[in-house]
Amino acid sequence: MRILVADAFPDASLSELTERAHDCAYEPDTTTEQLPDKLAGCDVLVVRSTKVPASVLEEADTLRLVIRAGSGTNTIDCDTAAQRGIYVCNVPGRNALAVAELACALMLALDRNIADSVTDLRAGRWDKKRYSRAQGIFGRRVGVVGLGQIGLAFAERAAAFGTQVHAVAKPGRDQETLDRARAIGISFVDTLEELARTCDVLSLHVPAAEDTRQLIDRDLLTHVQPGTLIVNTSRGELVDEDALIEAMETKGVRAGLDVFADEPGASTGSIDSQLAKHPNVYGTHHIGASTEQAQQAVADEVVRMIDTFESGRVLHCV
Ligand code: MLT
Repeated sequence: MRILVADAFPDASLSELTERAHDCAYEPDTTTEQLPDKLAGCDVLVVRSTKVPASVLEEADTLRLVIRAGSGTNTIDCDTAAQRGIYVCNVPGRNALAVAELACALMLALDRNIADSVTDLRAGRWDKKRYSRAQGIFGRRVGVVGLGQIGLAFAERAAAFGTQVHAVAKPGRDQETLDRARAIGISFVDTLEELARTCDVLSLHVPAAEDTRQLIDRDLLTHVQPGTLIVNTSRGELVDEDALIEAMETKGVRAGLDVFADEPGASTGSIDSQLAKHPNVYGTHHIGASTEQAQQAVADEVVRMIDTFESGRVLHCV
């Protein structure tokens, strides 16, 4: 099979693909605009950050499978893929610990103002008083929105810091999730509004979908307490970014954001986001999954999926 790997991929996994006699084109940093040309003759596309809109899929006559080397598939037009008989698969869970670790890092960095402190020191400023007003995380109420693999991993780590972890009760949760939530000591509240009203930190761990778009909207932000920390390592689409800027300016809300509503369509590029520039934001470059451990675990699964697809066995697609 001819495979285009359009984003960074571990060397060992590329070698595994070529050892299996695949014709593997490794073109990291491919932009969306370059995809149509590079996809000519390809059966499989492996993609991480590069967006795959309808216009690309409509021209990809030989393409049979798109693998998103991560959990979210919101960067791929899955409806057009389905209409054209192209399978789309994701790799959920393999990067969960890395994302949970970044969410913890953002929470702690916000509380201790670490990024500002580093910037000041690099500029030669010594201002100990400015950085002596952190609240501390121990004993604070942390609201986890979404109890999938990442949400639970984050909850487990937040609990280890001695926080009180809360989540919204949802009918129909599977027993394994409930058992893990109980083991972590998560307390349930009835609504997202109650979570927003009662927690000092809110961390978002739900995928981008119709029912989660702008979940954190102007109305919900009227309920958060002044100084609330909001951490989003999930998707920018979950947040009404204008409303968040307002809440920062009126209530001193601060946010640790790894994701933005309008990210570039490739792993490198530029971003013009008022939110990313805001002084109350500690922003990172959608790097939640960017650890060697996580990327290797994802790549191992991608190689396994390609084997499965080639052998005609059942592949679990979205
Ligand atoms: C995911 O969907 O798992 C992350 O966005 C992955 C990534 O950035 O690689």
